[in-house]
Amino acid sequence: MNTPERPHILQIGPLLPLLETWLRDRYVVCLLDDAPDPAAFLAEQGARFTGAVTSLFGISAEQIAALPNLRIISNFGVGVDKIPLEVTRARDIAVGNTPDVLNDCVADTAFALLLGVARATPEADRYVRAGRWGQPGQNSFHLGRKVSGARLGIVGLGRIGKTIARRALGFEMDLRYHARHPVADAPWQYESSLVELARWADFLVVITAGGAGTRHLINGPVLDALGPRGFLINVSRGSVVDEQALVRALAEKKIAGAGLDVFENEPRVPAELLTMDNVVLLPHIASGTEETRQAMAQRVIDNLDLFFAERRLVSEAR
Ligand code: GLV
Repeated sequence: MNTPERPHILQIGPLLPLLETWLRDRYVVCLLDDAPDPAAFLAEQGARFTGAVTSLFGISAEQIAALPNLRIISNFGVGVDKIPLEVTRARDIAVGNTPDVLNDCVADTAFALLLGVARATPEADRYVRAGRWGQPGQNSFHLGRKVSGARLGIVGLGRIGKTIARRALGFEMDLRYHARHPVADAPWQYESSLVELARWADFLVVITAGGAGTRHLINGPVLDALGPRGFLINVSRGSVVDEQALVRALAEKKIAGAGLDVFENEPRVPAELLTMDNVVLLPHIASGTEETRQAMAQRVIDNLDLFFAERRLVSEAR
């Protein structure tokens, strides 16, 4: 008896090596980047792919149009802002993502950035490495800002936002949040005005979904309200923050500092930020631990396997 041919999967962009191995063990995988002319390759071969796997690279409407038999896109990551969901819905293409398994690590990174920028730990590290500690004529390292007991404003109270809120309890922080609507089971104070939340907060942590609906939600007026003693932390998507307004606010000392894991045009980071000591910059690594990335890889596989076996997903992005 012939075994049925394994589904053909189009891989868009590099993935965690472990995930690439797992995918190739189960499916016939083709990396789009290997094609000298990806558009010509898709025009010629697109019909053979029933699945696609992507990550922050997403998949474009044009690429989907060139895949007439595509049934599932399995995304390595929770955010699906680079996948045109109106197109996948119209074509009845399932979209899987990797929620929940990364809540802890993204929340941990939010606090790493928050503590890093408030206590200036990366800057202090540079000061020690430069041999400036204890040198004659050197001032002692400048004072930081107290995190425990401070006011934390969370923008977006989804799964990760709630995990950040629980971390904040340990720091005995005073907590309020802003979201489109009050969250039913949330014991924290809801603030319907983002500007008012920013005005109130010492630390404003952004963890809302990316995409057109939240583009530049954090803009000049929000940063003005955050004020010269306020810090911005972004672990969501670069698109949520008006980056030029942020650079201006930092340069003009309209806010105290920023901790950023994400940028509008990743991996490009505005040059002005690179010279500022009151910012902490990370290369989009909020979920980047061995444990969590492995769990995300497993979810990518589980979504594909379940879909091809039963036309269901473990976690479906909507
Ligand atoms: C990371 O940014 C993700 O969307 O999981």
